[in-house]
This record gives sequence, C-alpha cells and structure tokens, in this order.
Amino acid sequence: MSVTSFDLTKIRQDFPTLKQTINDQPLTYLDSAATTHKPQCVIDATNAFYSEQNANVHRGRHTLSEQATQRYEQVRDKTAAYFGVASNEIVWTKGATEAINLVANGLKNQITSSDTVVITPLDHHANIVPWQVLTQQTGATLAVLPLNADATFDIDACCDFIALHKPKLLAISQASNTLGNITDLAPLIRCAKSVGCLVLVDGAQGALHLKSNLNTLDCDFYVFSAHKMLGPTGLGALYGRSALLNSLLPYQTGGEMIETVTLTHSTFREAPAKFESGTPNIAGVLGFGAALDYLNRLNHQDIVNHEQALLQYAAHKLLKIDGITLYSELKHNIGTLCFNYKNEHPYDLATLLDGYGVALRSGHHCTQPLMTHLGINGSLRASLAFYNNRADVDNFIFALQNCIALLD
Ligand SMILES: Cc1ncc(COP(=O)(O)O)c(C=O)c1O
Repeated sequence: MSVTSFDLTKIRQDFPTLKQTINDQPLTYLDSAATTHKPQCVIDATNAFYSEQNANVHRGRHTLSEQATQRYEQVRDKTAAYFGVASNEIVWTKGATEAINLVANGLKNQITSSDTVVITPLDHHANIVPWQVLTQQTGATLAVLPLNADATFDIDACCDFIALHKPKLLAISQASNTLGNITDLAPLIRCAKSVGCLVLVDGAQGALHLKSNLNTLDCDFYVFSAHKMLGPTGLGALYGRSALLNSLLPYQTGGEMIETVTLTHSTFREAPAKFESGTPNIAGVLGFGAALDYLNRLNHQDIVNHEQALLQYAAHKLLKIDGITLYSELKHNIGTLCFNYKNEHPYDLATLLDGYGVALRSGHHCTQPLMTHLGINGSLRASLAFYNNRADVDNFIFALQNCIALLD
C-alpha cells in the first residue's frame, strides 16, 4: 500500500506484524530501538527476489544476474541519495556492528602507540569494544569523553577534552540506544576537525529518526543497520569519505574484492568493492531499497512531529506514576524512554508487561558502562517509532500501573 501523507491508520495497516495479539492482547510494540517492524513492501521485495529474481550479483553475464546487479546497485544509489553522499562511499555490511569493526580493523596500520582514540561512556558496546581491541593491539591510548551525572554531554567540556587529547579518532553515537538522547554532534565534529581528529558516528539509532545529510554533518564515517530503518536484518552500511575508505586495510578478503590474484599476491579493488568480498545479502539490500522507497513517500518532518508528540505524551503519563525514575532527557530525544520503578528488577516488570501484550526492552541494553555511570544494573526501555499511536501509550501505561499494583 502506498503512503502519500502521514495517515497513521493507513501506515499501521502497512505493517502486518502490528496486527497480531500477544498473550490474547493486541500487541503494543515499544521496542523499535531493538528492531523496527517491516512494511509489507519490504517483505514483498525480499520475497520477490527469492521467488522471481534470484541470481548472484557482479559475476554473471546472463539476464537474471545482470538484472540482480542493477537492482542491487540501484539501492546503493538510493541509500547514498538518502544520506546526501556519493554511491562509492556506501559499503554494505552485516550491520552497524560489522561496519564499526570494519573501520577499527581497517585503521590498524594508521594508529600507533602515540595515538589516542576517544569513546564515550554512553555508547553501545558495538562502538566501544572494537576500539578497546584496536587500542590494545596498537598500543594506542583509549580515552573516554566526559559525561555529566545525568548522562548528558557538556559540549564545552567535551571540546576542551578533544583539544587537550588531540585524538586520532572520536567514536560517538548520534543518539543513545538506551536513553534516546540526541548528541549535539555539530560542535563536537567541528572541534574534532580543528585538531585533525577523524569522527565515526554510530547512526544505528539516529538514521531513521534524524535522517541526516552526511555531507552537512561532516563526519568521516557513519554506520547504520537496515533493520532499525524498516529494512531486513543482517544488513547495514558504512559511509566513509572515498579517499578515507580506500586508505583502510581490507576487513575480509576473497572473491569480488580483488583486481588480480596470483598464487602469492593479490591486488584489491577500490571501495566499496574492496570491502564487499563474497556473495552479499542481495535480498536484504533489495528489501532495504523498498524500505527507503517507503520512507521517501513519507514526509520526514511529519514523522518527527508525530514521534515527538507521542514521546511527550508518553513521558507525561509515565512521570505521573509515583516511584518512576526517568533517565532520558526529553528535549533532544529520538523517542525513547529509559526508566525504572523503585527498586523493582526491570526483568520482572518486562515479563509482567508481556502478559499485557506490551513489548519493551529490559536489562543493560548493551550499554554496561552507561549503567555503571547511572549507578544502576539495568532499566526498562520503551522506544517509539512513527507507527506507534496514542493507544499504544495508553495500553502501556495501563499495563504498567496494573503490574506495579501486583508488585507493591
Ligand atoms: C547505537 C547502536 N549501535 C550499534 C548497534 C548494533 O547494531 P547491529 O546489532 O544491528 O549491528 C545498536 C543496536 O542496537 C545500537 O543501538
């Protein structure tokens, strides 16, 4: 079904998984930060590949293979256009995690023991662990950007930190997966640039809600996962400036990434081919193309307006409940509420909420350093997407109140 304006009833009909019941209750899906649901057009595009178009890409001269290659490359073009960059700056990966690992591995010959790599205390483990390994392997210093007690950044303090350490690379998320807080990236990137520091932005959470022009953002690398943008799982991408991408060591080697191979030596192609060895996730890429088409048919500002109104509505209702501690900030937030109820274990509440058909995340959300910073072991996380409605929020609050009544 095509969407021409922001008609929430119509939009919800496009997502078949939203129509189900869980534990005899209508599904209230508040876990879009983990993965978004897929509109029917994405499912259809993936099915069409296997049922009608199946062929490998970049290696056949027969019609099906050439068509598959053309469709596959068209999605790269579409992705590049979506983010305002050039097609040869988009590398397909398995997801944001693999994209970060690709960069961390690729920089091994550019980082020395006199370099510093800066991470943040609130990033996802995927944007922490690869940098720990890189600095351990190269002898470089791993430094951590300062974070206020409430898990917000003091941008001036961060800029002072960057000016002092003059790092080789800053790895930072566009929005926190746990809190939903949006990072004020522009001034951070400016001060990083002024000391010659590369910036890798983890856009896993920001890509859908913030739709950034990466040229304007002026980062050096940007990573995202298709499954958090209505697309299939097992696919993501790395954006990198062309010259920078080509300066990275290859992450994986094998077929399709080579120019010539002898028994003792090989030469590599330019990016993106250099980083796409082996048969790629063709069906995933085509499904993601349909996801981008779907998003392009919506007005992004309508998405933002709806998500922000829903976030404020949900926060207002949540904060009316005695005993709730909210860790997210609400002014610059992609639509995620991170909270606890008194000292109740988040797993207990999440399990009880599931009985009401409410799906939300509990635990440390792959951000153990952030949990330590906040002085907690875990939390509940309700994350919204544009297909959520007020009824979802009402169901959630109603269920939460009932669960709390059971526990108190
Ligand atoms: C901020 C952030 N970075 C990275 C990742 C890793 O994404 P993936 O598991 O799709 O590789 C996630 C996933 O939740 C995330 O939220």
